[in-house]
Amino acid sequence: MSIKNVSVIGAGTMGNGIAHVFAQSGFSVTLIDVNTAQLEKAIATISKNFDRQIAKGSITEEIKAISLANITTSTDIAEGVKNAELVVEAATENTELKLKIFKSIDDAAPAGCILATNTSSISITKIATVTKHPEQVIGMHFMNPVPVMKLVEIINGYATKKEVTDAIVELSKQLGKIPCVANDYPGFIANRILMPMINEAIYSLYEDVAGVEAIDTIMKLGMAHPMGPLQLADFIGLDICLSILKVLHEGFGNPKYAPCPLLVNMVAAGRLGVKSGEGFYVYTAGSKELVVSGSFK
Ligand SMILES: NC(=O)c1ccc[n+]([C@@H]2O[C@H](COP(=O)([O-])OP(=O)(O)OC[C@H]3O[C@@H](n4cnc5c(N)ncnc54)[C@H](O)[C@@H]3O)[C@@H](O)[C@H]2O)c1
Repeated sequence: MSIKNVSVIGAGTMGNGIAHVFAQSGFSVTLIDVNTAQLEKAIATISKNFDRQIAKGSITEEIKAISLANITTSTDIAEGVKNAELVVEAATENTELKLKIFKSIDDAAPAGCILATNTSSISITKIATVTKHPEQVIGMHFMNPVPVMKLVEIINGYATKKEVTDAIVELSKQLGKIPCVANDYPGFIANRILMPMINEAIYSLYEDVAGVEAIDTIMKLGMAHPMGPLQLADFIGLDICLSILKVLHEGFGNPKYAPCPLLVNMVAAGRLGVKSGEGFYVYTAGSKELVVSGSFK
């Protein structure tokens, strides 16, 4: 399987990072979003992130120019995927939306095109059912920020054929990433293990076993984690953590995945972490200082 043309659907946080790494590795990339302003913002972000790499000395101005020239944008899925050998979908995490997008890709992409999704929690097997070729559908789960994080969690749907998995493993290596393959069960591997840890950290706070700083410091210094679980939850978004825990809870029917009532309350109150300005910590624009939220002092 020779892959040269890649279409990325969704130009948000993940989509712009995915377009960045493919373009830098010499692929021809079509970045697609329903929102024109989002496409413009994505190109500006990619350009800024290339500048950061130049400042660190990891790429040159010339590589930046070549890589940016590898990216074109489109607001039309049918047009944007018509020459693709691989589509990576990174649109908003919503099952109905993804099913609709995969139906459109399946109708418009050339025969033999691999259809990948960057979903964090939606079943690959379910997404594949709306296509004519479920054996060509696979999970390609990049981590945030994509240009920096080495892992690609590759997820086989129930019907994914081995040739497709092998091609995505090889391709991930070409991007300079380290691929790991898992099968399609709720949360795959990354979130199945991460989210119960975050939930347990929130339970420890809820039950007053320790405070925010103590919980995060114990996990940082004791386990050599770069970030404590509460800070990480703020970074991911507490609404996202809640929704992934619900997928695990429903998918396995096991009470051990039930989201902590404190997490449920914080999401209901709009305390979503970094993106809302407050979660377990308070975030002030321009400041890197980690300040515990007044609710937990
Ligand atoms: N943010 C993370 O840390 C992270 C990490 C791993 C995986 N993911 C997954 O990546 C995917 C994208 O997440 P994100 O954080 O980049 O979201 P985001 O909200 O930043 O971006 C989503 C983009 O999808 C676009 N979009 C919505 N409907 C569309 C359509 N019909 N066609 C084309 N574009 C459409 C939106 O305009 C938006 O630009 C989700 O499935 C998410 O679960 C996110």
